[in-house]
Amino acid sequence: MRLLFIGDIVGRAGREILLERLPQLRRDWNLDFVVVNGENAAGGFGITEAICKEILDAGADCVTLGNHAWDQKEALVFIEREPRLIRPLNYPAGTPGRGANMFEAKNGARVLVMNALGRVFMDAMDDPFAAVERELNACPLGMACDAVIVDMHCETTSEKYAMGHFCDGRASLVVGTHTHVPTADAQILPGGTAYQTDAGMTGDYDSVIGMDKTEPLNRFLRKIPQQRFEPALGPATLCGVAVETDDATGLARFLSPMRLGGRLVQVVPHGWSL
Ligand SMILES: [Fe+2]
Ligand SMILES: [Fe+2]
Repeated sequence: MRLLFIGDIVGRAGREILLERLPQLRRDWNLDFVVVNGENAAGGFGITEAICKEILDAGADCVTLGNHAWDQKEALVFIEREPRLIRPLNYPAGTPGRGANMFEAKNGARVLVMNALGRVFMDAMDDPFAAVERELNACPLGMACDAVIVDMHCETTSEKYAMGHFCDGRASLVVGTHTHVPTADAQILPGGTAYQTDAGMTGDYDSVIGMDKTEPLNRFLRKIPQQRFEPALGPATLCGVAVETDDATGLARFLSPMRLGGRLVQVVPHGWSL
């Protein structure tokens, strides 16, 4: 089965390249399942119902979130009627929406997707490891489902690696989001789980992690806010990871970063021609 995970869509530039490229990638690469992180899709902050629908209509099977999940307050309401939108698992009990859900892929396979928030240099949350453990136990890979995708949304590379090893052999893919820069460590862990510390954002890289450079530079230099953060609007790079899983075990047998369009050096998954 072929999976594609696309990192944080940042603002209009990120949405534009996703809508432009994803429908054709789905066809050209014969993708069975696509996950898109949409936590920064609406002007860099959160997601609206209209934008979520746009992403799903472009070919995403599922949209994950992160610490910006509720920046657009309407998400608290529409997430209840959109089972394809997944918020972090380890929010307090009673938080609207779902932290994990099972989906049917194009090839009929059952795919479990979950989203967790890290706790290092981030707001206090419930234990993400315990939350992920509960989901993995409820739905074992290769038995109750055919693929498991974990979007680990956190600040530090160490916490992401820890989650990768924690899930190794029990998930098809553990991929990091939130830091908005793709890392060069794509690998299949010893137990068979595909792993990359950060998928990278889908946005304009002539920026400070997706935002127009002016205000971030001002804040670093002067420490006096002058304006709001606005997404950079130049051509975006579509960033993510491509995975092929073994149909019997659900574990990864191929993994590659993907970087298409915009300023970054281009990476097309080997053997997945365009
Ligand atoms: Fe993000
Ligand atoms: Fe984030």
